[in-house]
Amino acid sequence: MCLEDLPDVLTGRKKAHEVLFPDGSFDAVEAVYHSDHDTNGLVARLVAEYVRARRAADPGAAVSVLEIGAGTGGTTAKVLPALDGLGGGLRYMYTDISRGFTQHGRSRYGADHPFVDFRPLDIEQPPAGQGFEPGAYDIVLACNVLHATRRIDDTLAHARQLLRPGGVLIVLETTRKQDFFTMTFGLMSGWWAAEDDCRLPGSPLLSVPLWRQALERSGFHRVRGLSPAPVREDRAFQAVVLAEKEGARPVAAGEATDAGEPAAATIAEPTTEAVSGPVDEAADRVTAPAGADAGEDTGGTADGAAFGSPLQERVAAAWQEVLGLTSVRPDDDFQDVGGDSILLTQIISRLKNGFPVELDLGELFQARTLADMAGLLEAELIEKIDQLPDDAVNTLLA
Ligand SMILES: C[S@@+](CC[C@H](N)C(=O)[O-])C[C@H]1O[C@@H](n2cnc3c(N)ncnc32)[C@H](O)[C@@H]1O
Repeated sequence: MCLEDLPDVLTGRKKAHEVLFPDGSFDAVEAVYHSDHDTNGLVARLVAEYVRARRAADPGAAVSVLEIGAGTGGTTAKVLPALDGLGGGLRYMYTDISRGFTQHGRSRYGADHPFVDFRPLDIEQPPAGQGFEPGAYDIVLACNVLHATRRIDDTLAHARQLLRPGGVLIVLETTRKQDFFTMTFGLMSGWWAAEDDCRLPGSPLLSVPLWRQALERSGFHRVRGLSPAPVREDRAFQAVVLAEKEGARPVAAGEATDAGEPAAATIAEPTTEAVSGPVDEAADRVTAPAGADAGEDTGGTADGAAFGSPLQERVAAAWQEVLGLTSVRPDDDFQDVGGDSILLTQIISRLKNGFPVELDLGELFQARTLADMAGLLEAELIEKIDQLPDDAVNTLLA
């Protein structure tokens, strides 16, 4: 995917996310996550099976599902079609720490699946403080995301807060180290965010036995590991781990399909913890969009004030388009209006388009406000002013 760029990334000439998300595009990364067909398919079957069983027990039951770190929708792309046609009263909340991913989800899945909502959620922070109702969800799904948080116990406590009593947490994770992930996602700072000591050595990942311990420590019970194929749990490269929150159990999850067949192989508990090779995956840690809420605009009004220059107008247009804001102001702080590193890559790609001077991406990443970013563009133009055609200078620096 990005091997030829590895020397540039390692020597600092390029940023890893420029390579993994070229011009802010998710295409390269999507190919990796959408390829976990069997395990994503297993998650989809588990969710659909749960919803069907709830409906069988209580035809009018409303069922709510929340997906944490949905990203490009590697799992969602399997789960939503499995839920189509399962009737009204179904709600699916597609969340991610990055507003870029929730916007991507909305444009990819929103039109075809009207029962889905899209909102930012940082699972490292208490969900209630981010506008999510505690105890409101029957199923919480987290695929290839929980390992990317700093403290697994805090993360699991937050996931548990979202669940109703008797609700089910479904975790899909890479559960052994793999070189491919180390050489790709491992180049991004988010991969190495872990601050606790419950991971596989030299990696942010947890094996199935380590997930079991963490989940039980966090108050979950009936924890079990599943895999599309039978494998001893300490040998599984990927696994689905199911855990329940105490309380009345509306239906059993992950125990049988509607056909009465086992939904998946329950993987055997190991006698030893076998670990080998190096690591990993994960998208870059991005700053939580402070104040971001439910895909609402957070940029405030433009107060009718004119921008100070055509360059500010140009930057404003890119911010509005990428962040989905109706108005922005020169002193708006990028992170405060919901920006993150992936969205910034998309903005820069728009700014580069037709701009007569090469842009220094590293510098643009330092800009905090809209005015700062326009100022950096202006500085680039002024530096090269002697080499530029007059009409470009007049239009952009008027
Ligand atoms: C490796 S991707 C997996 C995406 C998707 N679940 C899949 O399997 O295709 C990890 C996702 O977790 C998100 N993420 C990272 N830290 C997070 C956090 N603290 N809260 C919520 N999402 C987070 C990232 O933005 C990214 O989209």
